[in-house]
Amino acid sequence: MPEPATSTKSNGNGVIKVAAMGDLHVQEDAQTSYRDLFGEISREADVLVLTGDLTNLGKPREAELLAEDLRACSIPVVAVLGNHDYESGCVEQIAATLRQAGVHLLDGQAVELNHVGFVGVKGFVGGFGRRMLGSFGEPAIKAMVAESVNEAMRLENAMRQVRAKRTLVVLHYAPVPETVAGEPPEIFPFLGSSRLAETIDRFKVSAVVHGHAHRGSYEGRTPGGASVYNVAMHIAKPTGRPYALLEI
Ligand SMILES: [Fe+2]
Ligand SMILES: [Fe+2]
Repeated sequence: MPEPATSTKSNGNGVIKVAAMGDLHVQEDAQTSYRDLFGEISREADVLVLTGDLTNLGKPREAELLAEDLRACSIPVVAVLGNHDYESGCVEQIAATLRQAGVHLLDGQAVELNHVGFVGVKGFVGGFGRRMLGSFGEPAIKAMVAESVNEAMRLENAMRQVRAKRTLVVLHYAPVPETVAGEPPEIFPFLGSSRLAETIDRFKVSAVVHGHAHRGSYEGRTPGGASVYNVAMHIAKPTGRPYALLEI
């Protein structure tokens, strides 16, 4: 299990420090700037990972504001999108803006940085364990389950692309119920899907990070034992900062 990093940036021992944070929800009229935080992260970590809901309403201008703030980030950035980034039907424009800003935006792909494989997919809803939504009844329910299964299959395909010995899985939706604990139980099925954990457990991974559950819990494990961290900005973390620092 990777230990939360406590010392300063890594220096050639093979282990890298990854800062991970989700749910920035950048707004058009926001007074909040992430510039200082991105500058701080660049001094603390080797790679920044953003776990979706980068924009609040999925508006192109929100993505542009984030891209401007990301100029203060001098380390590589890996990201997945979240459900909020889809809200305005401009997801392609948002993705293009972020990619132009140099972000490794993953949607069923992998990228290797500093000898670590980063595998990213948004994931989807569906629920956990034996209570997962099944493919039965109306076409709309079947379409929902199919989307959940499809995201897990895209994660599997991305995992197969990895050649590095160490892998960090980057999601928006949660793969386990432990890290959504704290949210109202009624909405657990909308916060993630065990299908993601089933896929993860077929591979050897160093850790999994996700967001989406703003009122969830920081730490959990897949049934196979992979460490899972909910890094939504709102979650209290060992760093005492909005981002987690993981040694991978
Ligand atoms: Fe969010
Ligand atoms: Fe979300």
